[in-house]
Amino acid sequence: MSLTKTMEAALNKQVNAELYSAYLYLSMSADFEAKNLKGFANWMFVQAQEEMTHVMKIYRHILDRGGKVVLDKVAKPKTTWKTPLDAFQDAYKHEKEITAMINNLVRLAKKQNDHATESMLQWFVDEQVEEEANTDEIVQKLKMVKNSGEGILIIDKELSQRVFVDNTKAAQ
Ligand code: FEO
Repeated sequence: MSLTKTMEAALNKQVNAELYSAYLYLSMSADFEAKNLKGFANWMFVQAQEEMTHVMKIYRHILDRGGKVVLDKVAKPKTTWKTPLDAFQDAYKHEKEITAMINNLVRLAKKQNDHATESMLQWFVDEQVEEEANTDEIVQKLKMVKNSGEGILIIDKELSQRVFVDNTKAAQ
């Protein structure tokens, strides 16, 4: 069964949202690096790379189901954040919005009896739990240190450890 036009359009919209996510986190990474917070920059750079794997997972699904990938304009992200807490609060908020979009896609796939899309989306449902938990954990830590230089540097060091892993491949 091929994708319906409605499902195809909705998935293309998600491709755009995931591209924007990559763009947003790359912008945060560049801002952190400009401020010499290399660990924060690393975390966001890895996050941007992860987002590109999300783009590609949906992109692949559209093509494999006989659909057409249509790339749209990507919105311009903010370019600077006052504090690391501001950036991570934005990241957490953004992830909650992405979760809501994924949930809407699941509802649509169910309504259309599109089991293949629903199954593909299940991976994103699980992934979003992680995405929200990871960003919120850092928000909570940043709140704890209250923008103190020493606290920020400790968190910066911790975030420098993150390495990119393609979870979309591991899950297949
Ligand atoms: Fe692809 Fe961070 O959601």
